[in-house]
Amino acid sequence: MTQIKACLFDLDGVVVDTAKYHFIAWKELANELGFDFTEADNERLKGVSRVRSLEILLEIGGIDLDEERKEQLAAQKNENYVSYIRKMKPDEILPGVEDFLNQLRKNGILIALGSASKNAPLILKQIGLTHMFDAIIDGNSVSKAKPDPEVFLKGAEALNVEPTDCVVFEDAQAGIEAARNAGMHVIGIGHPDNLKNADFVMPGFEDMNIDKLKFN
Ligand code: BG6
Ligand code: MG
Repeated sequence: MTQIKACLFDLDGVVVDTAKYHFIAWKELANELGFDFTEADNERLKGVSRVRSLEILLEIGGIDLDEERKEQLAAQKNENYVSYIRKMKPDEILPGVEDFLNQLRKNGILIALGSASKNAPLILKQIGLTHMFDAIIDGNSVSKAKPDPEVFLKGAEALNVEPTDCVVFEDAQAGIEAARNAGMHVIGIGHPDNLKNADFVMPGFEDMNIDKLKFN
């Protein structure tokens, strides 16, 4: 039985539901470009980097643009998105997350963030959780997007623990693959139909406790 030494958390969709703000901001951009963008389209952007998200959005709209214009549009979407996340408050932490983080700290299990988002530091500040993390690895500190394991391997390194002693919490398939590619245990957050290859999948943290961190 592995004794888990560290938990690595994805942010968007695991600690907070920011997908709704990403959705509003991408939809406004799509509408401005003259096409619609649905919630189903938005599902395709979960766990995907900002640049790749824009490319998918442009594919949906059948629009081809040069790199300079793409950069402008990604920046414009981000400004809009940031205007929403600046208003986030601690009551947006998803149910059960804070209790679970407290349990981990009490039991000496290390905590890291492993997020693709460049806005992760701002979100953690807004929800008042920055101090709970022993290491924060986000979109500013990685060069390869999930499913590449870079973000989680850097997290384990920052905590000075072996990947095999880590468990990752992820809501996106690319993130589950990234955890597997890092040689870590992984718990999916969401529905098992959408999340393959996790040790197990749970709907959220409400029924989570450290006794469930047992893996062979
Ligand atoms: C991921 C989200 O966590 O971060 C994606 O699931 C998002 O939807 C990505 O595109 C990058 O986020 P940001 O905040 O840097 O644009
Ligand atoms: Mg996520």
